[in-house]
Amino acid sequence: MELCNKIDSNIHETQEFSVLQYLGHKRKLIPFIKENVYNYLGEGDGFLDLFAGTSIVGYNFKKTNLVYSNDAAPFAYETAKALIKNNLIINYDEIKQKLDKYYEKNRENLSNIFNKYLMKEKKLLNSVDINSLIDFYNNSPNYPLNNEKFDKEIDLLEYKKNNKKEPYILFSSYYSSNYFGFHQSIDIDSLKYAIEYGTFSEIEKGILHTSLFYAMNECSFSRDGHFAQVINFNRSKKRLLKTRKNLFINFL
Ligand SMILES: C[S@@+](CC[C@H](N)C(=O)[O-])C[C@H]1O[C@@H](n2cnc3c(N)ncnc32)[C@H](O)[C@@H]1O
Repeated sequence: MELCNKIDSNIHETQEFSVLQYLGHKRKLIPFIKENVYNYLGEGDGFLDLFAGTSIVGYNFKKTNLVYSNDAAPFAYETAKALIKNNLIINYDEIKQKLDKYYEKNRENLSNIFNKYLMKEKKLLNSVDINSLIDFYNNSPNYPLNNEKFDKEIDLLEYKKNNKKEPYILFSSYYSSNYFGFHQSIDIDSLKYAIEYGTFSEIEKGILHTSLFYAMNECSFSRDGHFAQVINFNRSKKRLLKTRKNLFINFL
């Protein structure tokens, strides 16, 4: 894919931020890259951000140059649409209204499946009883470890045959007792469902996906905040409580 856009307003003032703690992202190298690249790049010249990843490099040249972005990964396409191609500020209320209907539909279906675990998680998080919380997660259903503990049979093979099967359940079934909790995973699955089915433009979808990645990144219980390695509960109890927050704090 290729996208390009030269920024024509001052809405992208903040350039030091990170959508994802992605392994190999270049956020910390931005001053070095800029200092050196501007020796060869004039204002208004084309700038190709090859292997764009989080798009943080291209984003930092958007004020002065015509940025082209390329990456094979679908997540990178979404962030490039939001950060490189987009120059608009979206209307939050309008977007929220369009999201809500589908978000609620998926959420309700998942809440029926995971109700017992949602209630228990909420109680333990409120009580701040960290050892019981860890015990709860270690004994909760999740693929592929505690597969047999699901109350209702969830046939993931069906999802492998048809990845549009409803409700969207990927995070709730795999990551609800490790990187994320049950509440967070159900929100992630339901937001993903709503982004796909709500009537959004391609740019809006890019912005919503990017917001979701950012919100997930801020709650992920994993080493250095990226998704490569989950942390041992017992070694980082305080962090577990800190990251099990409401995902919506950082979404939109
Ligand atoms: C280390 S990351 C890039 C980091 C990026 N500059 C940033 O700061 O976020 C490498 C990227 O290369 C992409 N990539 C790897 N092989 C590729 C290929 N053959 N064609 C296009 N993109 C590729 C990956 O999807 C990944 O996003």
